[in-house]
Amino acid sequence: MEICRTKSAIRAQLAAWRPAPIVLVPTMGFLHEGHLSLMRLARARAGATGKVVASIFVNPTQFGPGEDFDSYPRNEARDFDLMRAEGVDAVFAPEVAEIYDPAAQTIVETTELAKTLIGKLRPGHFRGVATIVTKLFNIIRPDAAVFGEKDYQQLAVIRTMVRDLDMGIEIIGAPIQREPDGLAMSSRNVRLAPEDRTAASILSQALDEAEAMAATGITAARLRSHVRATLEAEPRARVQSVDIRDAQSLDTISGPLRRPAVILLAVKFGQVFLIDNRVVQPPKEEP
Ligand code: PAF
Repeated sequence: MEICRTKSAIRAQLAAWRPAPIVLVPTMGFLHEGHLSLMRLARARAGATGKVVASIFVNPTQFGPGEDFDSYPRNEARDFDLMRAEGVDAVFAPEVAEIYDPAAQTIVETTELAKTLIGKLRPGHFRGVATIVTKLFNIIRPDAAVFGEKDYQQLAVIRTMVRDLDMGIEIIGAPIQREPDGLAMSSRNVRLAPEDRTAASILSQALDEAEAMAATGITAARLRSHVRATLEAEPRARVQSVDIRDAQSLDTISGPLRRPAVILLAVKFGQVFLIDNRVVQPPKEEP
């Protein structure tokens, strides 16, 4: 596996490999099984002749003031070993100064999607994500890129940006990977205090219940209240948001569910911000 620290090094490596198809897996490192599942999907999409490139970059512009940029977990040597074992061909792991010129003036933003849901809780977050993903796409020029469905809104932002800016890159969503108790895998899970780690399984329990209730014809408002009450019954959970949106457009929904909807959760345990989601189906129509 080639390890490239600079834009020129990764570009030179990729030039030597093209026209082989390139599949990118952008990450912020501290890999877990969820990331490895993205790499396996990338490996399958690249096929025998294609190349898988992963990036490790803890992107400062997607963290707000007071958020966990400094304490975000990092372990590059372990990440490299895991990537090698998954058949990653090259890793791009630059320093911040290699990526951001202090004189830079250009940002990328999905104007509406960036302001709603997590965008309200973390202003500027999706601008940082859209900008770094665009930069990675421009540096690596992949044919396809793989992102986790756990970051549901992030995936929607990236798909919208690729469509709006005619980037011509195939975006592949990878299903959420879960711990045995249902907790969605996340690099942040290691920062949970032991009691919070136990309590955090409430997110997937609330989603399991909601999935069953969605099939009964319940309204979006009642389903949302039920999920919120389930989460609030866990004293260690500080609920940041519970939303039920159209699974495709992320538009708000009123009345009974008539199309697939996504339930989006954001909950803090101590200082650790966790998200989770589930796409749920409306009741089957009577024949
Ligand atoms: O999902 C992530 O890990 C990050 O938001 C991403 C897509 C690598 C951009 O920094």
